[in-house]
Amino acid sequence: MFDRRTLFQAAAGIGGALTAFAGGRKAEAKLPKGSDLEPRGTDRRLERLPSLDVESREDFLTQLRIWSGRDVRRVANRRANKILKNKGLSPRDPMSYVEAAKLLEDDHIIGLSGRAWISVQQIMWKNLQDEFHSNGDAYLEELEAADTAGPGSVDLNPDMDIPMYAKHEIHMQPGGYVGDPLGGYVYHYGTNNFWQGRNYQDEMDQQLAETIPIPKDGKVKRILHLGCSVGQLTCRIKEKYPDAEVWGLDVGGPMVRYAHMRAADLDIDVHFAQRLAEDTKFPDGHFDLVTSFLLFHEVTSEAAEQIIQEGYRLLRPGGVFFARDHRDKPTTTTTAMAGYAQYWNWRWNHEVWMMDHLSNDYPKLMAGAGFDVDTETPGNYSGFGGNVMGVKPA
Ligand SMILES: C[S@@+](CC[C@H](N)C(=O)[O-])C[C@H]1O[C@@H](n2cnc3c(N)ncnc32)[C@H](O)[C@@H]1O
Repeated sequence: MFDRRTLFQAAAGIGGALTAFAGGRKAEAKLPKGSDLEPRGTDRRLERLPSLDVESREDFLTQLRIWSGRDVRRVANRRANKILKNKGLSPRDPMSYVEAAKLLEDDHIIGLSGRAWISVQQIMWKNLQDEFHSNGDAYLEELEAADTAGPGSVDLNPDMDIPMYAKHEIHMQPGGYVGDPLGGYVYHYGTNNFWQGRNYQDEMDQQLAETIPIPKDGKVKRILHLGCSVGQLTCRIKEKYPDAEVWGLDVGGPMVRYAHMRAADLDIDVHFAQRLAEDTKFPDGHFDLVTSFLLFHEVTSEAAEQIIQEGYRLLRPGGVFFARDHRDKPTTTTTAMAGYAQYWNWRWNHEVWMMDHLSNDYPKLMAGAGFDVDTETPGNYSGFGGNVMGVKPA
């Protein structure tokens, strides 16, 4: 098999220009020659989708998601305010998720807004899964060839006893995180769509990596990212702390397998492992920083508590556990529409553990595990209200 990426870039005369662009891949990726499937070349960090057909459909669906998430949503918000006003309520009156759902769920305009979003989500998954599975053997070969390539490594555990709670098809992704061997490809391009085109170059992850707090003494020799999925943030953390040993860990074999392949292709030296965040197999006091992003809303409350205890065990004195997710404390919502959106995400987008997450008090759980909870340092980022930081007492 020849390397069509090189051929493409040489023919177009743009290889040098693209790789020189900020954040571009380095020249010497170490994947075995010929194993890297890139029929349409790369746009800096992003391998282009394999056909114009699938790419144009994804572009269309991304625009449709933007339209449904912004314009249609705006109309739905106005409608919600009108419904509230007719009931003598203000949009800012605190309201529980259940009350908000009862009030808003049967309205046809609000329903249309949700339907449009969910249809994009469904068609998006199908578009991507059909594409990668139609050439499934080649993608499996690509993954297999990368398993032993460097830099970095992947530790897969095909016999792992996966807890039931992690087997759900969260966000309706077919096979979820654990059940589709090509799930990493599907998730990566699916989330590109989900983030509305703002993360093609992992730029959102780069910003996230910039804002993760570190121990006060500034020492970060070893970093662990729990629930790393396809490793974009893990790679950005390594780029931010190039001298640290960085690990990304996920219950999904297809996730970490793809994550490693991509990191090796980008020449980023990160280690990935298929393990549970609540049972990481690392020694006590091994890490300076343990972090997670959007993990806790996808696990049971019981697992959340265990993960926090495991984080405490893994950290050295003075080490930091920083978790970022939808919420940190149990909340009634400030607006009925925001509350309804969380309920709706649970009900229609298969966010199976979202309501459990919203009832958890993370600062309290962290304090219970022994952490000093820092409520000052963690800043907010882009709408994620659930930043929580625990420091292991020295
Ligand atoms: C929404 S994704 C997180 C995104 C990711 N942090 C990133 O930076 O792109 C949630 C991930 O958590 C993983 N996960 C869920 N439960 C887990 C557990 N108990 N242990 C490890 N990973 C878990 C899922 O497989 C999934 O990949």
